[in-house]
Amino acid sequence: MRIDVVSIFPAFLDVLDLSLIGRAREDGLIDLRVHDLRDWAHDRHRTVDDTPLGGGAGMVMRPDVWGEALDAVLADGAEVPGGPETPGGALGAGRAVLLIPTPAGEVFTQRTAEDLAGADRLIVACGRYEGIDSRVPRHYAARGIEVRELSIGDYVLNGGEAAAIVMIEAIARLLPGVLGNPASVVEESHSALGLLEHEALTRPVAWRGLDAPEVLLSGDHARIARARRDEAIARTAARRPDMIRALDPTTLDSQDRAA
Ligand code: ADE
Repeated sequence: MRIDVVSIFPAFLDVLDLSLIGRAREDGLIDLRVHDLRDWAHDRHRTVDDTPLGGGAGMVMRPDVWGEALDAVLADGAEVPGGPETPGGALGAGRAVLLIPTPAGEVFTQRTAEDLAGADRLIVACGRYEGIDSRVPRHYAARGIEVRELSIGDYVLNGGEAAAIVMIEAIARLLPGVLGNPASVVEESHSALGLLEHEALTRPVAWRGLDAPEVLLSGDHARIARARRDEAIARTAARRPDMIRALDPTTLDSQDRAA
């Protein structure tokens, strides 16, 4: 997958050099490129923002600077499906998504991550201040580009960079070959099962007066699976009653219902 990130703080994205995502980049599974928005500003101060039309607090990022930046990034990448645009304006084969982190977006969930992991190309536009001029997403959507304005939760960050890192990590770990053990993606919290993952324990079996449940040492895989499922349902009910309400009743078996 090719991922381009445009930001006024490119160094913010340096953490994506580390850990599993860094390894995936080294292995060529992810081609991540970070661009400085100010490279497309024209004045001596490399200005990227201006006061809001209609008045009000804060600054808004200028559509002309963003337009030049995104045109250039979209036009680059002839070697990847989904880019660049053909001279007629249509996108090449493949799926390119312009992703704009914003607290005013649709909520990014594991389902969103799974969907976006199917794209060939992501272009992530990180806004600061009061955000990017609203005509920018509208313009690219009208040009036939898939635009997703997404929020990572009901709180406000100072800019899109931290949210971009969250979303890129959630998406990239779903790409084939990025995780050592693909089974971990299937069983974890927020997988299609709709439950939080069961609790995790390791050795020592007794620690500071706390004993691990005996069943985990039994070697009886059916009993272990049952105990883990009961625990997952109990903790989901306690911590996330909204997830229990949203469960498809057919995913519960008769023993779940009894519990
Ligand atoms: N930018 C600022 N706050 C944000 C949030 N909660 N999600 C995505 N982008 C943001």
